[in-house]
Amino acid sequence: MHDDREDLGRNRSGNSTFDEVLRAGSSRRQVLAGGLGALAAALIEGPSSLGRALGASGAALMGFTGVPVSEEDAVIVPRGYRAEVLYAWGDPVSNGPAWDPNARNTAEEQALQAGMHHDGLHYFPLPYGSNSSTSGLLAVNHEYVDNGLLFSDGFEGWSAEKVRKAQAAHGVSVIEVRNEGGRWRVVRPSRYGRRITAFTPMRVSGPAAGHPLMQTAADPTGALVLGTLNNCANGYTPWGTYLTCEENFNGYFVNQGRVPADQQRYGIAKESDRRWSEFDARFDAGRNPGEPNRFGWVVEIDPYDPAQTPAKRTALGRFKHEGAALSLAPDDRVVLYMADDERFEYIYKFVSRDPCDPGQRAANSSVLDSGTLYVASFGPDGAGQWLPLTYGENGLTPEAGFRSQAEVLVKTRQAADEVGATKMDRPEWIAVHPLSKDVYVTLTNNSERGTRGKPGTDAANPRGANVYGHILRWREAASDPRSTTFSWNIFVLAGDPAQGDTTKRGSIKGDAFGSPDGLWFDARGLLWIQTDVSARSLYSGDFARIGNNQMLAADPATGETRRFLTGPRHCEVTGVHATPDGRTLFVNIQHPGEPATGDDNDPKNPGANSVWPGGPEIGRPRSATLVITRDDGGVIGS
Ligand code: FEO
Ligand code: CA
Ligand code: CA
Repeated sequence: MHDDREDLGRNRSGNSTFDEVLRAGSSRRQVLAGGLGALAAALIEGPSSLGRALGASGAALMGFTGVPVSEEDAVIVPRGYRAEVLYAWGDPVSNGPAWDPNARNTAEEQALQAGMHHDGLHYFPLPYGSNSSTSGLLAVNHEYVDNGLLFSDGFEGWSAEKVRKAQAAHGVSVIEVRNEGGRWRVVRPSRYGRRITAFTPMRVSGPAAGHPLMQTAADPTGALVLGTLNNCANGYTPWGTYLTCEENFNGYFVNQGRVPADQQRYGIAKESDRRWSEFDARFDAGRNPGEPNRFGWVVEIDPYDPAQTPAKRTALGRFKHEGAALSLAPDDRVVLYMADDERFEYIYKFVSRDPCDPGQRAANSSVLDSGTLYVASFGPDGAGQWLPLTYGENGLTPEAGFRSQAEVLVKTRQAADEVGATKMDRPEWIAVHPLSKDVYVTLTNNSERGTRGKPGTDAANPRGANVYGHILRWREAASDPRSTTFSWNIFVLAGDPAQGDTTKRGSIKGDAFGSPDGLWFDARGLLWIQTDVSARSLYSGDFARIGNNQMLAADPATGETRRFLTGPRHCEVTGVHATPDGRTLFVNIQHPGEPATGDDNDPKNPGANSVWPGGPEIGRPRSATLVITRDDGGVIGS
């Protein structure tokens, strides 16, 4: 989700953003005078030639013919490729009820159907441990809902049943998929088919489980939560579990009293346009101050066990989690890279204390409960440091408001402020190169960078009023994901080469794009980039020549980008994964037809902005999972 409106949390700490350093030297003047300037150019090319060391396979990495920008209400892929809808909002997960095109399904029915607004996804081969590229499970996030599409009459007659249906349209789907004779379908019925919603019971695990901050009147144990919310990007573990990440959870809560500082830091406000608290007191953060502390976590789900109780892994910290990207250490310890998507927030990593054992699935049930959480500091010279968020260290003491590791984790943002991490331009997805282990992160945009009263530019966030965003990458010391130091540079500054303003031209080699969000490396080391330009920016101003949201491939060695897919009108392209053989790609299309205001659609005219994928007869846009294959059965992208 793009959503600047939800951007209510405010980072008021006084951490250095390296602007002091830049202000002192000539490098800042170069950045200002030359657009990119010498400093940024040096960082793009890289002091350590990061890129050139990668992708020796270079030549064959990208073999498709790129597609032009598009404003059509359609999915467009290169010649020789085919994109088909596999699983759209309202489709049954198993042998449940069919979708009603008039949006009259009940809450009970919705809880057995695909949720709305698909986001991150992952393919798990069936059976576990196999490499099957024809039979598997898809786990799919459903981030949020558009009430003008979910209900035939929108907010009219708002009720407990309507709140329940909205909650049932959130969460995660697990579906069984199979390729028979070259065509993919959802297997129905399936013993694996499952919906996890905003009211599915889940346990809290790790250091914050049971802590008084996690307790509520309904759950004095502080260890049993109902549901997961705003499931944005994702991750997976070496033992075949799915990680779903809770992003803008704050938007579901209201606090009509005086909002305490700890709630303000996470953006909880007096009002919520979701209106859940009117019929579900859990979302009244004034009456139930513990409840918001139970969201903003990474949740582990076992897709192979439909009876498993999902676990909120508190050791991974609490913030607006975008995703959790795995890098396995040489000793089988688990490293997860994670971003907090909001302007001026941070990048984190978790290093498990214990190694995992993928051969013994059950033995890994607490690997994500013990370890060290770090936050990133990007130095002005291409050097970086991981700062541990460990109780008792780095000023994380009772005097600073932290009395235990549980408190450090519930208040991860405040802890990161305290240790002086680098404030980033809305960090979104993170991807790890399969061979080099280099780590790439999208910084989607930050129109407030360098504006009055806000942090100025710095080396890692070099453009003021950064409307197009950039992609930054780093290499851990000794290429070991456990390292506490790294070197970094900027992979690409997104932009439009036709821009008159030189700071907006960017450094793209190849097809132009802006607002990079989804990011994923396939097994061959091709980098896939998905964009999320807000509907109100599409076709106007800075984005006039960039068209609908899209997915591109990039060669990490050369930096060349090539447009692979354009989505329907006013959608976001998000979520991408492939079968192990690389011959099927799964991609999600989220919120086709989002109004340019960013608000919900008008229920009286749900097809005003898009009628994808059903067309004008259906007249109601639906988020959906696409399956993309090549006519010749070849590897996608090659
Ligand atoms: Fe849900 Fe930051 O995108
Ligand atoms: Ca996103
Ligand atoms: Ca986004």
